[in-house]
Amino acid sequence: MTALVFTSEQAQHALVGALPKAELHVHIEGTLEPELMFALATRNNIALPYKSVQAVRDAYAFDNLQSFLDIYYAGTQVLLCEQDFFDMTWAYLVRAHSDHVVHSELFFDPQSHTSRGVDMGVVIHGIHRACAQAQTQWGMSSALILCFLRHLSEADAIQTLQAAKPYRSLLAGVGLDSSEQGHPPEKFQRVFAQAQALGLKLVAHAGEEGPPSYVWQALDVLGVQRIDHGVRAMEDADLVARLAAQRTPLTVCPLSNKALQVTPDLAKHPLKAMLDAGLCAMLNSDDPAYFGGYLNDNFNATISALNLQPLDVLTLVRNSFEASFVAPDLRAQYQLRADQAFATWARDHA
Ligand code: HPA
Ligand code: ZN
Repeated sequence: MTALVFTSEQAQHALVGALPKAELHVHIEGTLEPELMFALATRNNIALPYKSVQAVRDAYAFDNLQSFLDIYYAGTQVLLCEQDFFDMTWAYLVRAHSDHVVHSELFFDPQSHTSRGVDMGVVIHGIHRACAQAQTQWGMSSALILCFLRHLSEADAIQTLQAAKPYRSLLAGVGLDSSEQGHPPEKFQRVFAQAQALGLKLVAHAGEEGPPSYVWQALDVLGVQRIDHGVRAMEDADLVARLAAQRTPLTVCPLSNKALQVTPDLAKHPLKAMLDAGLCAMLNSDDPAYFGGYLNDNFNATISALNLQPLDVLTLVRNSFEASFVAPDLRAQYQLRADQAFATWARDHA
């Protein structure tokens, strides 16, 4: 008999720490902590509009997605050289490794760098070199997902995809992020078709602030394999049925939703209802340097707010591997490791 309920917060934290996990929704630029932002600004001789690390943190009070994006794009300006992208990515991977993340799929926003004159190769090589080091050092796998900024034109996205073609072998897929309202997925139909023709996986942010119709469009017009966020899909019963029937994954980010006022009260977050509806939902940190928590923080806050129990946590972790873009044999290995870690925890907490 397994331990079916958490008997203490300590037991909960122990399970979260013990389980190997995949993180599928993290913007690498959103992992840039203020300390590193200042260090890179100094190294690159860039003036920041903040006096101190604390002043940066004090600015992180958001009303909505746009108020965050304005600050997030300002932060990216300290990134100039390959070493900057390496240092930022390595700092995230070290932190993720300490949360027992064994596989991560990293979003990056090349247009916020190429628009400042930074070469696509500098961005991709810097991020990739850190991922390769994590693979060598810890056996941690990762994948890169190039995101198009939806507030820019489709022509700009097409140009960005062209610039990334020489690095095709280092990319797993493409995604769509930035300001959602007023920028529906259908705006990017052609560039997603071009990415698909290159054999890239397709994902898109939809149903974070935008309506359920944006989730339908991401599925039917763009042909995405995963929906990022997708919490507003819960407003449309037909859509929920479709997502459940096809096991379309939804990469949910509770601390992000709280920080951006999508669901200001975590106790009212739809994650539990999503699992109860049979959706393939899992937890992610989105922009952890800005939203007050990395992956295990998202687990612990959500478990406490929604009174999740051990088997819910195992489901979330199993969903993270099911939804990942790893090869089937590696997926099976990760699932087995998660099941074994759960069994060991259950034995110790029986
Ligand atoms: N939503 C949309 N775009 C983003 C986000 C997000 O949460 N984080 C970074 N870019
Ligand atoms: Zn995101």
